[in-house]
Amino acid sequence: MDIDQLTLEEKASLLSGRDFAHTERIEHAGLASIALSDGPHGVRWQGQSGDHLGIGDSVPATCFPPAVAVGSSWDPEVAARLGAALGREARALGISVSLGPGLNIKRSPLCGRNFEYYSEDPLLTGVLAAAHVCALQGEGVGASIKHFAANNQETDRMRVSAEVDERTLREIYLPAFEHVVKNAQPATVMAAYNRLNGVHATESSWLLGDVLRTEWGFDGLVVSDWGAVGDRVAALKAGTDLQMPGTGGIDDAKVVQAVRNGELDEAIVDDSVRRIVALTRQYRPEPAVHDAEAHHRLARELAGECAVLLKNDADVLPIASRIRRIAVIGEQATNPRFQGAGSSHITPTHIDTPLEAIQAFADSGDQTVTYAPQLDVQAAEAVREADIAIVFAGLSADDESEGFDREHIHLPTAQVETIRATAAVAARTVVVLSNGGVVSLEDWHTEVDAILEGWLLGQAGGSAIADLLFGAVNPSGRLAETIPLRLQDNPVHLNFPGEAGKVLYGERVMVGYRYYGYAQTPVRYPFGHGLSYTTFETTDLAVTVTGDDCATAALTVTNTGSRPGKHVVQLYIAPGRAPVQRPVRELRAFTKVALAPGESTRVEMPLSRRAFAYYDVEASRWTVAPGEYTVQIGESAARIVAQQTITLTGQSLAKPLSLESPLKDWFDHPVAGPRLLDALSENLTAEQKEQAESQSHLLRMIDSMPIRQFIDFTGLTVSTETLERLAEESRAASAAGR
Ligand code: BGC
Repeated sequence: MDIDQLTLEEKASLLSGRDFAHTERIEHAGLASIALSDGPHGVRWQGQSGDHLGIGDSVPATCFPPAVAVGSSWDPEVAARLGAALGREARALGISVSLGPGLNIKRSPLCGRNFEYYSEDPLLTGVLAAAHVCALQGEGVGASIKHFAANNQETDRMRVSAEVDERTLREIYLPAFEHVVKNAQPATVMAAYNRLNGVHATESSWLLGDVLRTEWGFDGLVVSDWGAVGDRVAALKAGTDLQMPGTGGIDDAKVVQAVRNGELDEAIVDDSVRRIVALTRQYRPEPAVHDAEAHHRLARELAGECAVLLKNDADVLPIASRIRRIAVIGEQATNPRFQGAGSSHITPTHIDTPLEAIQAFADSGDQTVTYAPQLDVQAAEAVREADIAIVFAGLSADDESEGFDREHIHLPTAQVETIRATAAVAARTVVVLSNGGVVSLEDWHTEVDAILEGWLLGQAGGSAIADLLFGAVNPSGRLAETIPLRLQDNPVHLNFPGEAGKVLYGERVMVGYRYYGYAQTPVRYPFGHGLSYTTFETTDLAVTVTGDDCATAALTVTNTGSRPGKHVVQLYIAPGRAPVQRPVRELRAFTKVALAPGESTRVEMPLSRRAFAYYDVEASRWTVAPGEYTVQIGESAARIVAQQTITLTGQSLAKPLSLESPLKDWFDHPVAGPRLLDALSENLTAEQKEQAESQSHLLRMIDSMPIRQFIDFTGLTVSTETLERLAEESRAASAAGR
């Protein structure tokens, strides 16, 4: 379609939604309307009359495990199978764009929407999200990666300004988006509600223009989060193509007026219209049917990959056939919580309850099961007589949801009391948790034998939990976020959720395990932790440098236990001396391998320059500092089982100099440094030279002094012209090294 056929009014009308969930159509130009619908872990389809708060009903659809669970699978295959199934269901309902996945980093355990996000780590987030997006789009349904960017809390989410320095943005909050844009070409990117350094995300030409389009090469459509546009003309200029939902024509009229009065270039309108037309053309869902039963079975299988076995003293799990009596306690055993509240809320096609699934396993092994919602006097008797007690605990939608943040990380007191009272009388106690955000285990951790962190596992989570408890599935989830000892230990504690309209990201790149490792703060369970019913060994790590700033790591993993199982190989890089403050180690590659008992496999992991680099703000580039790097294989971020140090040539760190640069930068500069020394020496007496050499602390004292002041103070006769010339040479050297 040629957009010249359209009037300005028609073009403007295309730039906002026809209703809550559709784009506008223009019949005479043959342009159809397409449907956009939540959400990341299932289809939330409400037709035209949607709400984005998860209040109204939606058409039944499979509720797959939410991102909090998928994050813990550490398996792109899980994300991909989920994405493809979601795509099939979306197609069946005629939906063109599925609004997800959410790529925001779990900055604080308190964020009410953490259940919709994958991890505190950008690499894990990016890899899983890219797999989801590729598979979804492979089914012909577009993705909308969200919420771009720095939308890490719900408090004041529509206005708060995330105050984040550029290095932190580049290293923590943007890389997952960058990875997906570059590797999965998402159809759309959703601009967030919040402001970033004072500017609304929908109005940030730096974010949407310079970074997203120019640097990363994104050529899809930018859609606003629902209601995130304040000033339509400013948002359009910055790169927000589609405003959702529509405003009944009010904002379209503002666009028309701005073009007419010369405030807005019509070419900007045309660019956005072309992108909307392209989206509409490309994502025309082919009719599809899907087998709801098969998707339910898939949801169960995927959920089994996600739960994390945190603790398993004396191998109390899996429940062996010699266990005759099982006592199940807790309301969540019959009324499970398997998804979060808000715009991603799905009307499931079916719900598996843990109790029924446990009963089914027990029946086949001739074991008896008793159940009580609370530990009252009768129930206590059954627990005492049982060989094992399983307590179901977790959070409710009142505790955590889109739209508000939590104030603490404790389980409800009554549940803690139930766990402790059960553990006091039971022979063995297992706790199964269902929660979207991290909960503290401190009040009861030492009193129980095993803990299975189920997060929110989707509609088939009940069966998946039974599969794991009875060993039909071997747990293979790993924590995608740290479980701290105390909320106060978290690096954002001083700066969450901010005040007076701003939230300062003062912990900078030290988010989650990056901080705990740096500050050597003990945690209950570190990022990457998770147990299995079998054991694995890592041997023969060999790291080969393959260029100035890249390498390849290879290692052998062996299943040394007696059950088939899956192991997550976690590769961290620990930088040596660096010119900026860096975390002790950062996750730079991972892969999940399935091994039969006794089986070994050789795993190879390429490490590109980004694996070693930090973002150099002054030079606006990713830089690998020359020097040593230790490649570490971890069972978690806190437990390294193999490592090898390599030396990389990296990039010159020489900074472009000026008369305001400190002496240290001048002396350290490979080109200007020696020349400056020569120039200075010419003017020093023998006595002055001796003094300078013998009193090195004097030099350290003046390290940070700008050279202009140094020359003024000391009266040394190095001319400004000489310094200007050397500075010019340094700039040329830096430009050449880039
Ligand atoms: C949420 C988005 C969601 C949109 C549409 C907003 O409130 O932040 O994640 O896709 O509503 O329901």
